[in-house]
Formats: sequence, C-alpha cells, structure tokens
Amino acid sequence: MAKVYVFDHPLIQHKLTYIRDKSTGTKDFRELVDEVATLMAFEITRDMTLEDVTVETPVGPAQSKILTGKKMGIIPILRAGIGMVDGILKLIPAAKVGHIGLYRDPETLQPVEYYVKLPSDVEERDFIVVDPMLATGGSAVEAINSLKKRGGKHIKFMCLVAAPEGVKVLQDAHPDVDIYIAALDEKLNDHGYIVPGLGDAGDRLFGTK
Ligand code: URA
Repeated sequence: MAKVYVFDHPLIQHKLTYIRDKSTGTKDFRELVDEVATLMAFEITRDMTLEDVTVETPVGPAQSKILTGKKMGIIPILRAGIGMVDGILKLIPAAKVGHIGLYRDPETLQPVEYYVKLPSDVEERDFIVVDPMLATGGSAVEAINSLKKRGGKHIKFMCLVAAPEGVKVLQDAHPDVDIYIAALDEKLNDHGYIVPGLGDAGDRLFGTK
C-alpha cells in the first residue's frame, strides 16, 4: 500500500495558511505555491542516493558524498500543476519536465487525456507527478496511468492539499505510488472542491476568475 506523508514543517504550514486565505492575490499566491513546492521538494528528495567521493579542500583530502545522479522527471498535471514546477526545479535543476493534460468528459465525468509530452528516456527516470489539489483522485490516477503506460516505473505524487477521498482512490489505483501532501483536509463538497481547501488552484494561480 502506498504511504502517505503529510509535511508538517512549520514553514510549509505557515505559507499554506496564506495560500488558503481568500484575500491573498494572484502574485502572492503564485509565489507562495512556488516556495512551498521548493520546501516539499527538499523533503521528498530525502531518499536520494549518495556515493562516496574524495574532494581536495584547501587543507587536504576530505571523504565526502555526492548524489549518484539518478535521472529525475517532474510531471505537472495541466494546468495547475505548472505552478509547482519552478519551485521543484530550484532544488533539482537537472530534472526534465513532462506535461500531462486531462479534461473531464462531460458525459462520463471521467478524466480524458488530451496532451502528453514526456522525456524520451521515461524508463530510466524517477518521476514526481504534481498537482496542487488531490480532490476526487481521478486526474491523478489517470495521469499516472498515462505515465506508466509509456514506461514510467518509479513515481511519487505531490500535492498541496488532499481530500481523504482522493487519497483513497489514488492509493487503491496505484499502491506503488507514495503520496506527499502539505495538508490533509476534511472532505470534498458536492462540487468536488476540497473543504476547506483553497478554492480553484488553477484560477488562483493564473488569475482567471
Ligand atoms: N481542484 C481545485 O483547484 N480545487 C479543489 O478544491 C478541487 C479540485
């Protein structure tokens, strides 16, 4: 079963409060999401592997460590996921960025893929799929289906706010994908919004409301 990690670092919780606040405008909202994504990337990369190296300091040789250089990929789910990409790239600048776009079929209400562009060496990379909101879980499940179908194997999912309903749906569909969240909220409302959540993440990021 996939593990769920809730990042309760004080800086993340503090910034999330301002992200939630409806009086926070687009510019601040975007900057705060970017900052929280960086802080979450710091936590999510704790299991990166290291190798021993020797480096010459001005005083003499030091036994030290460097990353083994495993290839990484970041996959934002369009469009709100884009708001988290730059924050992650600040810590993992060599990561490649793929995109997955989904729309909701008005009849079946199921997410349908309309755009997928991934790094060519999908099978060799460790991926972080990002979307600020894990609500019903439908988009996250479909995006990860899409990535796996094209060879993605080592996948983590990262979001700001999750509803318990979405966490369960994602865990059931992808038990190998660990979930990293900044806050686990109460529930979904009848419109599929997370309560209390932060509203529509895409609209707040891009100023489209
Ligand atoms: N997507 C959002 O942007 N907000 C929600 O609360 C749920 C889904």
